[in-house]
Amino acid sequence: MFKVVVIGASGLLGRALVDELARQADWQVVATAFSRPAPNTVALDIRDAQAVEQFVEREAPDALVIAAAERRPDVCEHDPALARALNVDAVRTLAAAANRRGAWTLSISTDYVFNGTHPPYRHDSTPAPLNAYGHSKLDGERALTATTDLGCVLRLPLLYGPIVSWAESAVTSLVPAIAASASSNGRSAVMDAWAIRYPTFTPDVALVIRQMLERHAHGETIRGIVQWSGDEPMTKYEIAVRLAEALQLDANLTPQSTPTDATPRPHNCHLASSQLEALGIGRRTPFDTAIRQVLAAFPWRGETAA
Ligand SMILES: NC(=O)c1ccc[n+]([C@@H]2O[C@H](COP(=O)([O-])OP(=O)(O)OC[C@H]3O[C@@H](n4cnc5c(N)ncnc54)[C@H](OP(=O)(O)O)[C@@H]3O)[C@@H](O)[C@H]2O)c1
Repeated sequence: MFKVVVIGASGLLGRALVDELARQADWQVVATAFSRPAPNTVALDIRDAQAVEQFVEREAPDALVIAAAERRPDVCEHDPALARALNVDAVRTLAAAANRRGAWTLSISTDYVFNGTHPPYRHDSTPAPLNAYGHSKLDGERALTATTDLGCVLRLPLLYGPIVSWAESAVTSLVPAIAASASSNGRSAVMDAWAIRYPTFTPDVALVIRQMLERHAHGETIRGIVQWSGDEPMTKYEIAVRLAEALQLDANLTPQSTPTDATPRPHNCHLASSQLEALGIGRRTPFDTAIRQVLAAFPWRGETAA
């Protein structure tokens, strides 16, 4: 029996990952959550080092995937201590505990470790984060590699997938404004047309992680830093146009060609995925197909708030 612990199983990526791993007949999956515990999850605050050590010692997994994080750039900017506790210190504690048990740790990181001026970025391109979130995730990558030889960092770009609220993904968070702009007295919704993103479907990432776990189970462990990305470049304005089409809304959208974010964000951090592709790992569901699946499972009902 191959045993995998998923830390942060209640999140956008964690849920997709648990769905994927649950389909593996001879694997045992132990899932943790924090503020959103479910009957099939273990409650764990990863800031509590003692609780983490006891949990990993008790479960004795073969592999541990860290999908828990503080990933909202504005929250990280205003609460760098929280960002550090989750994105750096907890990664170190988890990786050290896993290493003591001989378990492989896979930690999720972000394209925001780069400044976005010279894409595409390889796994060994020089990081230069622009904001507190990117800094904390880069420090988390370094904490992982300094703590265990049996570890791997998987960098990902903007994620979307099955949601439990519109705000959960930066892709679906556009829906309420798109819908408001389509109402009879709706004002135009201004959408960023400057930053280029590569929206990546969480079930595709879950498959990538499952394939990486399979390699570990077969003694072909992947170490160091790897990257995975969707291959359709889009600005938020272009994402909004595609969402409006999928929702069959006559939206009134205005492209905004200069950045207006309070927190600095990179222009284009396209991540090269060639290492994983060379191993035959990965799948890319076309955006228009994937977003229709997401919207079918979580239909727009004219909510007033995101
Ligand atoms: N979302 C994106 O667009 C994106 C892009 C690139 C990289 N990433 C990276 O991908 C990973 C997954 O992101 P996501 O979007 O799935 O995040 P998410 O939806 O915000 O989920 C965060 C997870 O962390 C858990 N968590 C929060 N505080 C915790 C604590 N103190 N102790 C234990 N668990 C805690 C949450 O549990 P509760 O909900 O139960 O509190 C939740 O399961 C992160 O490493 C993120 O940096 C995300």
